[in-house]
Amino acid sequence: MKSSRFPAARWSLGFLILASALGPALTAQSSSFHDAPATAAGLENPFTTQQDAQVGMKQFHDKCAVCHGPKAQGTGNIPPLTKGPAQAAKPGEIFWYITKGDVANGMPSWASLTDQHRWQIITFLRNLNGPNAARPNAAAVEPPDASILNAPRPTPPFTDFRFEKPGTIHRISVVDLPPPFTTASSGNGPRLVPRPESAWPQAPAGFKVELYATGLHNPRLIRTAPNGDFFVAESETGRILVFRGITADGKPQSTGVFASGLNQPFGIAFYPAGPNPKWIYIGNTDSVVRFPYRNGDRTASAPPEHLADLPANGKGHWTRDIRFALDGNTMFVSVGSGSNVDDPDTHPEETNRATILAFNPDGSGMRVYASGIRNAVGLAINPHTGELWCSVNERDALGDNLVPDYITHVEPGGFYGWPWWYIGSHQDPRHQGKHPELKDKVIVPDVLLQPHNASLEMTFYDGKQFPDQYQDDIFASEHGSWNRAIRTGYEVIRVPMHHGGRATGEFQEFLTGFVLPDGNVWGRPVGVTVAPDGSLLVTDDGSNSIWRVSYTGK
Ligand code: HEC
Repeated sequence: MKSSRFPAARWSLGFLILASALGPALTAQSSSFHDAPATAAGLENPFTTQQDAQVGMKQFHDKCAVCHGPKAQGTGNIPPLTKGPAQAAKPGEIFWYITKGDVANGMPSWASLTDQHRWQIITFLRNLNGPNAARPNAAAVEPPDASILNAPRPTPPFTDFRFEKPGTIHRISVVDLPPPFTTASSGNGPRLVPRPESAWPQAPAGFKVELYATGLHNPRLIRTAPNGDFFVAESETGRILVFRGITADGKPQSTGVFASGLNQPFGIAFYPAGPNPKWIYIGNTDSVVRFPYRNGDRTASAPPEHLADLPANGKGHWTRDIRFALDGNTMFVSVGSGSNVDDPDTHPEETNRATILAFNPDGSGMRVYASGIRNAVGLAINPHTGELWCSVNERDALGDNLVPDYITHVEPGGFYGWPWWYIGSHQDPRHQGKHPELKDKVIVPDVLLQPHNASLEMTFYDGKQFPDQYQDDIFASEHGSWNRAIRTGYEVIRVPMHHGGRATGEFQEFLTGFVLPDGNVWGRPVGVTVAPDGSLLVTDDGSNSIWRVSYTGK
């Protein structure tokens, strides 16, 4: 199944499955690159020599690397150009697309470049996977502008990486939101560097941070099995890893590969609840599958059983988290949008996306549980109230301080605004005048986070090690911004619940230090889980590590 990880193959496969499952509604969907016209596909690239590739590389570094990454590998939600649709498309289609851009979705128009430069960039991108490829490297990218690093302190409640500190509390309210386009939309993806010896994640006083494991490949979601093993989704390699135990010096006792050949796996859930699960469920980007599982299994004992197809077409937000309701009767699956703000009325591929879906545990009975949620990367069940909660990436390209990401409990049938509205009755200017009847239906989430933080996995703290005031609080990973002039996120936050079932709107910085003072980034938190001993494990796909935070009181 390895080949199906490449979106080109996945596209055609997914298209067939969807087309047959959903009938004629989707068969009209165009499969050209970003709906490029047929005339574009026919254009020949006149600049295809090695010299052209070299010029293209330089142009790429100057114009594209800030968002698509120095190696064109993609950053955050910005797609890679080394694989997937950008490699499968015809050169003329890419030329057409980059000339026009897709401003609403955060991709600028490059009509300002000469035709020659645009073609040369395409030649560079096309040669990336070839034997004599001109390889870009991170060092060649310009360091951040000092004037940005010395920019004035942001106006509270907004903040940025320069002021992140464990223990700092923030609270963003609806009245704090600026109008759209108060500032320009930035392209400021993380410039990843190796972790310098002196850099280490910082936690509040009394906590100790250790490196539990490193050398992983893109570790994403992490979840603790009932027997205490840690399951980690390595989405890019298509694998689920298992880590067992914590030695006296804070390392795993053993590690292994539970399953491989999955399609961008992310969500992991054990079922049924309680000490003796029978299955482990995995959220592939396009399906829910499950493996038989008994406590202590280190490798899957049978191939995956396919339970349900998920809406996916190789486009847009690809993570799928899975959680079960406390009574075991409902499986929740989060499915992010295919785009930044495309209108589902005119983009049928957005059908059932930007939702949290509910299923029966056998995968039957798919229904929309809540909608208008752009990208709920993390799901969690409040262990006391049984309520579903989620951690959400809101939309881009409206300016630095819009739209706040959020963490909230989820109302059954609730509508959270995307794409026409945001954070209550604020209309997205890109959809002016649309769906006035929904204006008063948009739920304001419980906790508004720093805009563009990229809030990923969340968990309730049900361990016994941290001080009592942390009981039942939420921890969430903020992967870090790209669409903000000065970075935010790149930290783990705590949402205090004050021993009740409700959040007050505050959140507190808990684990920081992943951005260096010069603005370069060495770590990006993705997953959070509570270990059996009550410590907190955090995956980091910047340094490809797992960190462990424990309370020592010192
Ligand atoms: C400000 C950030 C930014 C910059 C700078 C940028 N892009 Fe993009 N690009 C994006 C985003 C965001 C998307 C995804 C848009 C969407 O969701 O449809 C994208 C999409 C693309 C795609 C389509 C990829 C796919 O898989 O569908 C191509 C090709 C691309 N960009 C090429 C370029 C090139 C070439 C440059 C430099 C000349 C460039 N981009 C500069 C943000 C950026």
